[in-house]
Amino acid sequence: MSRSAVGLAGLLLVLLCLQFHHTKPFASNKRPLKYGDLNFLHTTDTHGWYSGHRNQKVYDADWGDFVSFGAHMREKLAENGQDLLIVDTGDRHDGNGLSDLTSPNGKESMPIFMKQDYDLVTLGNHELYEWKNSKMEFEQVLSKFGEKYVSTNVLIKAENGSLVPLGNRYRYFVTPIQEIRVLALSFLFDFNRFNDGTFVKPIANVIHESWFVSLLEEYADKVDVLVVFGHIPISHQWKELFVLHAKLRQYFPSIKIQYFGGHSHIRDFTVLDENLTALQSGRFCETVGFASINLTASSDGSVESMKQVFSRSYIDFNRESFEFHSGRNRKTPDGQKVSSQLQSLRQLLGLDSPRLGTIHNNYYMDYVPIDHPHSIFKLLSERVLPTLPADKKEHSSRIIIINTGSVRYDMYKGPYTLDTRYTVSPFENDWVFISVPRSIAVQIADKLNEKSYILGQLLLPAHQRFSSLTEKRQEIFTLPKLEGHLAKGYVTHDDFGSLGDDTPHKPVVNFPVPNVVQSIELDKDSKNDSKVDVVFYNFITPNVQWALNELGYSEAEVKFYSGIYLGELLDKFVQHNDL
Ligand SMILES: *[C@@H]1O[C@H](CO)[C@@H](O)[C@H](O)[C@H]1NC(C)=O
Ligand SMILES: *[C@@H]1O[C@H](CO)[C@@H](O)[C@H](O)[C@H]1NC(C)=O
Ligand SMILES: *[C@@H]1O[C@H](CO)[C@@H](O)[C@H](O)[C@H]1NC(C)=O
Ligand SMILES: [Zn+2]
Ligand SMILES: [Zn+2]
Repeated sequence: MSRSAVGLAGLLLVLLCLQFHHTKPFASNKRPLKYGDLNFLHTTDTHGWYSGHRNQKVYDADWGDFVSFGAHMREKLAENGQDLLIVDTGDRHDGNGLSDLTSPNGKESMPIFMKQDYDLVTLGNHELYEWKNSKMEFEQVLSKFGEKYVSTNVLIKAENGSLVPLGNRYRYFVTPIQEIRVLALSFLFDFNRFNDGTFVKPIANVIHESWFVSLLEEYADKVDVLVVFGHIPISHQWKELFVLHAKLRQYFPSIKIQYFGGHSHIRDFTVLDENLTALQSGRFCETVGFASINLTASSDGSVESMKQVFSRSYIDFNRESFEFHSGRNRKTPDGQKVSSQLQSLRQLLGLDSPRLGTIHNNYYMDYVPIDHPHSIFKLLSERVLPTLPADKKEHSSRIIIINTGSVRYDMYKGPYTLDTRYTVSPFENDWVFISVPRSIAVQIADKLNEKSYILGQLLLPAHQRFSSLTEKRQEIFTLPKLEGHLAKGYVTHDDFGSLGDDTPHKPVVNFPVPNVVQSIELDKDSKNDSKVDVVFYNFITPNVQWALNELGYSEAEVKFYSGIYLGELLDKFVQHNDL
């Protein structure tokens, strides 16, 4: 073939691809949204994923696309004479290089987040670990959103040292189109690892405070819809919401209520009573949640009749879904600006280059069993952890234990860059160790795996939190077979059934994951009473000490082992090994 023929063939190929791109082979599969008088778009637990999932097409939209989508949907609904509220329920840090590579963490990513025209914004526990992050909420995010920033139960220390609400304790407003009177409250779950400059009051206490009771009394007959949006799981197993709910219904016995939740990183929708539903919209910019309320329809309490009043959808965070629902395929000028800001930011932070290595397989947290060759925990415990160098070791036998929650996300095929490290394991914890007899050392991991909460702390990845929810999601196999090629993704089973995902997917299964996994390197001639160095992240020191106590051993001193984070270890490993 001559040079020009090759050129022509290439051009034809490009044209052909463009052609296919325009035909959108999967769009016909999508399930349209069911609009009501009041409509909501909801994000939660974004954890800094504003530039999208580069190695997963099903979540290829970036924050600029989402900003455009919000504006387009507002416009479209206004044309129908309907209102839209855009809501976020917190956790914007820890999980992506875009947020975590800067100091303070979120310095560059929060201004991106704030480009969305939110009507209601609140914070999550990840805004409360570090004082720097809480201060950023108070000084920047609150200033930007003003009355739209609501937190009913989180306090922050003012300069004079007194605790003041971090934001507004409520928002009362009237929607622009249908003039619906909305009272919005926002609660964080009972979280107690907040930094010294902040304070979280449990819901169970707040509901008895006189200001709160007066607020409910004052608005009891002035509200059409109550919106409770917070960083709290909406699962039937989470008791705090029921306490709140009982109180709210004393003052608002029959109005329609919509809850929005977060924190457990799943898609979920629950019915708390015949006039109230709750929506939770996943994690990591994989999902935009949609909810709507028909204010004139009423239900007789059956799920079928409730579907005339309430609706929900889980929109995949990709351009195709955004275009399908909004009917608009161009970014807004604001959206365009955000996308190009993201591009320069990625360059500035060195997220895409240098390329440290190439990953040839996908490694999953729980889409495969833990002993599968593509389990990231198997990879870490059998190959990566043994490369951890010791700063000072005491014995040649060692066991390294990591909690599975220290891995944040799957590792997908493609270039491995700094960004990959921060998505897989962003946590910057030192390694520590204890020296204990082998007979004790080999029992610690098993002990730690006996129950899910140890000292009130969860060691698992967040979305694995409710084992019965995991079971609920495994019912997906009973779904009818769908036609055509489906991408892998969520198939959500919730209180309204199994058709909430805006795009039908080939289901992924979440296999159970233990609290901790371990790498075992024991000398061949070691005996039961030979000493072993047991190494772990200082983050789980209290849990390891608990396990030792349970095993009847309490004389171990915790010493520094290494300051090379798990993520850095993975960087080095990837550079020298074929994965
Ligand atoms: C401290 O400052 C806060 C906020 O600026 C203010 O609301 C509060 O009244 C002050 N408290 C005292 C004791 O001065
Ligand atoms: C639900 O709302 C309808 C209409 O507002 C009302 O008639 C009904 O009593 C409410 N149900 C409950 C259990 O309060
Ligand atoms: C709301 O429900 C009423 C009564 O069922 C129905 O007539 C109306 O069309 C619904 N509104 C919307 C926006 O679907
Ligand atoms: Zn989260
Ligand atoms: Zn959280």
